[in-house]
Amino acid sequence: MLYHRLGSIPPKRHTVFRKPDGSLYYEQLFGTEGFSGTASLLYHVHRPTRIKAMLPPTDARPRIAVEHNITPRKLLGYNVQPQDEFLASRTPLMANNDVVVGLAAPRHSMTDHFYKNADADEVLFIHKGKGTLRTLLGNIPFEYGDYLLIPRGMIYQMHFESEDNLILYVEAFGPVYTPKRYRNHFGQMLEHAPFCERDFKLPANLETHDEEGDFLIYVRKEGLIHPIVYASHPFDVVGWDGYNFPYGFSIHNFEPITGRIHMPPPIHQTFEGHNFVICSFCPRLYDYHPDAIPAPYNHSNIDSEEVLYYVDGDFMSRNDIKPGVFTLHPGGIPHGPHPGAAERSIGKKSTEELAVMVDTFKPLKLTEQAMALDDGTYFQSWL
Ligand SMILES: [Fe+2]
Repeated sequence: MLYHRLGSIPPKRHTVFRKPDGSLYYEQLFGTEGFSGTASLLYHVHRPTRIKAMLPPTDARPRIAVEHNITPRKLLGYNVQPQDEFLASRTPLMANNDVVVGLAAPRHSMTDHFYKNADADEVLFIHKGKGTLRTLLGNIPFEYGDYLLIPRGMIYQMHFESEDNLILYVEAFGPVYTPKRYRNHFGQMLEHAPFCERDFKLPANLETHDEEGDFLIYVRKEGLIHPIVYASHPFDVVGWDGYNFPYGFSIHNFEPITGRIHMPPPIHQTFEGHNFVICSFCPRLYDYHPDAIPAPYNHSNIDSEEVLYYVDGDFMSRNDIKPGVFTLHPGGIPHGPHPGAAERSIGKKSTEELAVMVDTFKPLKLTEQAMALDDGTYFQSWL
């Protein structure tokens, strides 16, 4: 949690702030939890309320194929087909009332429209690709390994310098924060945290477009995508300050916590939201007790669903796992290393594995698209 400011703002909030021609800038308070959560104050060239047209929505709600799942699954995410547009390419795979987890393989930048998710904070993890997240609060360059945290309501565009892009995304129907146990009373990251504020990529290069015309914003609300045409460019902010803004964080800046014997998954935790956490499994030294077994023990996560997305390297506890694969270990039944993995891990000094984990405390449903990627035999892979 950080205070940040860009551009020009008046010395006192809610006071006269004039353009060079003497007319007023338009102030907007932008928060995501009523008037009590974090918020920013924005100063627009034009009113942010100038709707010209509301067009018919399209339904983008996840289509659920398996409502009640207890089967461990492997989803071959690398089979998700690329699409030209970012929004069209978003493929929801697992969902419940707290989160949607999906993959997107967009080829093209967003140029003729903008996007706003009014339902959910978004965490985009860049598996492949390079570009710039453009927002009304400034721009954030991104590359392989970056998490982009986009609070709900933020108007943005994805601009790619690459065609081969692959993005793991989490939509969270509540705010996403860094873990509370790593922050002090004032919100500052503590010394034992695996990363700190200096690692964050904050928005910069605020663009102020004083342009009128037809500007199309796709607004996601209750799962529907509503095309709304505005009379002025949405990136018309001349200055802002506050605590509510998008930021980036590279998984390569996550400093792993290690120990003499096996450390549990919470040491990998990077973000948290309502009823879920996001963890980063990064290259690290293994446990250094002479008899340590670096592979995890079997565990019964009775009240958690574990989704692992494999990014790079060999994942030590699994056989036959490639980058771009998801495994889902549902709550209610135990899971553990594959046969041979524990033995293999003894005496190993380090791992190069890179993976992102999303653990939810409520069961996940699988979408039609997920079932098309399901390998169908993973549940028997411990025999
Ligand atoms: Fe696990």
